[in-house]
Amino acid sequence: MTQPFLIGDSMTGGYGGADILHSCTIAVEKGEIAVIVGPNGAGKSTAMKAVFGMLKLREGSVRLQGEDITSLTPQARVRKGMGFVPQTSNIFPSMSVEENLEMGAFIRHDDIKATMEQVYELFPILRDKRRQAAGELSGGQRQQVAVGRALMTKPSVLMLDEPTAGVSPIVMDELFDRIIEIARTGISILMVEQNARQALNIADKGYVLVQGENRYTDTGQALLADPEVRKSFLGG
Ligand SMILES: Nc1ncnc2c1ncn2[C@@H]1O[C@H](COP(=O)(O)OP(=O)(O)O)[C@@H](O)[C@H]1O
Ligand SMILES: [Mg+2]
Repeated sequence: MTQPFLIGDSMTGGYGGADILHSCTIAVEKGEIAVIVGPNGAGKSTAMKAVFGMLKLREGSVRLQGEDITSLTPQARVRKGMGFVPQTSNIFPSMSVEENLEMGAFIRHDDIKATMEQVYELFPILRDKRRQAAGELSGGQRQQVAVGRALMTKPSVLMLDEPTAGVSPIVMDELFDRIIEIARTGISILMVEQNARQALNIADKGYVLVQGENRYTDTGQALLADPEVRKSFLGG
């Protein structure tokens, strides 16, 4: 049997009190886009934190390219090739855009210029604003900084928790186009999204989470076509 590139397998756990995740499984293949959707409070962010090692699992495991990384710290996971853009506080607002990117490369001891150049090619507006404080940028541009910062470690898998939160539909479309571009370079994308329809539309694989459990798992297109999923989770 082939292993997924990254899998949080049958994850059960929470924040110390009652379990939030109940045997929840999330996986992504190399260079593919996997999207997690579901109602507020379903445990989407908790599942992401669990995969990134910010939550102690009571049961289940996390495996990256077949290696069990369940007991590794988030920092150690970054060294293994994982990048994470959390839902909140994902930039340093008082630092410049360029300083944010430099901070993103904290684990590297080699020359980061080429990677920074790649980030600026992906998000040209960040080059123009590189000396500006990141906190002064628009919501969409701040999300670009956050994604760019995570790319600075040259991850093999990029985890994004609601990257399009609070941005206009046009900015959302642009950001999704950039995310597709990132995936085409071979980087796996594991993403939580509120804009469920649009996100499933670009997803190879989709997960509908409800109350910390997997409710539906299928290709993005199959979920979009499923009458039950549409009625309950996509607004009809
Ligand atoms: N740091 C925390 N400590 C305790 N409970 C939390 C914490 N973060 C989230 N929760 C709880 O976990 C559940 C799932 O939250 P979350 O994973 O943020 O959901 P989602 O991202 O799907 O909206 C909610 O009931 C929430 O109140
Ligand atoms: Mg969340």
